[in-house]
Amino acid sequence: MNTQGTSTIAVFGATGQQGGAVVDALLERGARVRALVRSPESDRARALAARGVELAPVRIDTPASVVTALEAVDAFYFMTPEANSLQEVEEEVRVGTALADAAVAASVPHVVFNSVFGADRVTGVPHHDSKHRIEEHLRRSGLRTTMVRPTGFMENFSTVMAPVVEDGTVVLRLPLPDDAPLKLISIRDIGRIAAAVLFGADVPGGAVEAVGDELTGPRMAAAFGAHAGLPSRYEALPLSVLPNELDREMFRQFAKASEHPSDLAAVRKIEPAVQDLAEWIRSTGWTAPADLAQA
Ligand SMILES: NC(=O)c1ccc[n+]([C@@H]2O[C@H](COP(=O)([O-])OP(=O)(O)OC[C@H]3O[C@@H](n4cnc5c(N)ncnc54)[C@H](OP(=O)(O)O)[C@@H]3O)[C@@H](O)[C@H]2O)c1
Repeated sequence: MNTQGTSTIAVFGATGQQGGAVVDALLERGARVRALVRSPESDRARALAARGVELAPVRIDTPASVVTALEAVDAFYFMTPEANSLQEVEEEVRVGTALADAAVAASVPHVVFNSVFGADRVTGVPHHDSKHRIEEHLRRSGLRTTMVRPTGFMENFSTVMAPVVEDGTVVLRLPLPDDAPLKLISIRDIGRIAAAVLFGADVPGGAVEAVGDELTGPRMAAAFGAHAGLPSRYEALPLSVLPNELDREMFRQFAKASEHPSDLAAVRKIEPAVQDLAEWIRSTGWTAPADLAQA
């Protein structure tokens, strides 16, 4: 791979969160980026084009369109869409295997698959095992493949996992036991890690868990409290608060995370500036939401 910034790298998911972060990191490194998009006229696709990204229209159901889009690229990054039901899990596997097959047909020299942590094994979490199945398909394909396996997004603390302030105390509530460490990564760093790998960073074993921090609930709450200058409290919730069985199974697995400790040193060899939670909180300018007791 050319490391002088003149390589062409194809990205699937460029209009989304992780693929968007990969594009940001690739452009910073001076790569030429070709985004495989289904809607070239969408606002997000146009915004990419305005930054110099080439748009290649693809239809997953028309394999030739994907093969054409992958012609003459130096490397190909792909993620797979969110699945919230068993039907969507099968669709995710279908998309992933179709992209892998197109990469074989286009003789892509290096594929980086944005998988998920733990996808080296079957875990019983449907939307993680889907990624395991895609990894296995890639392995059988003969393609040179590297797996980047992201952990939970820190950005979830701005949405579904947002702490609240009650009576002057930062309170974090998650369906996770107090003593279970949660593996976390910022989306920015997923992009940086994937870009480094696309540019040829050495990845022992052909797979890296993308992780920037690993903290128990009380320690996560304390990181938000320290930033806000407020005391903090963590409360473990029952799994029944989760909207579907897929997520309940995922949090059952999260509770066992200490069986598979993270290797932060391995990540730092690829992306030395990977953020921990405190750094992410600072860098995003997170502010404590209004105190519910005073609302
Ligand atoms: N949330 C977490 O903490 C977490 C942690 C680890 C892993 N994950 C995994 O991350 C994945 C979601 O990633 P994300 O948040 O980056 O996704 P996202 O922001 O929802 O983006 C999805 C991307 O895929 C594209 N896409 C979907 N279906 C397509 C199709 N048929 N043809 C062409 N493009 C298609 C979308 O394009 P359009 O713009 O056209 O829609 C968009 O660019 C899931 O697999 C999830 O399991 C999540």
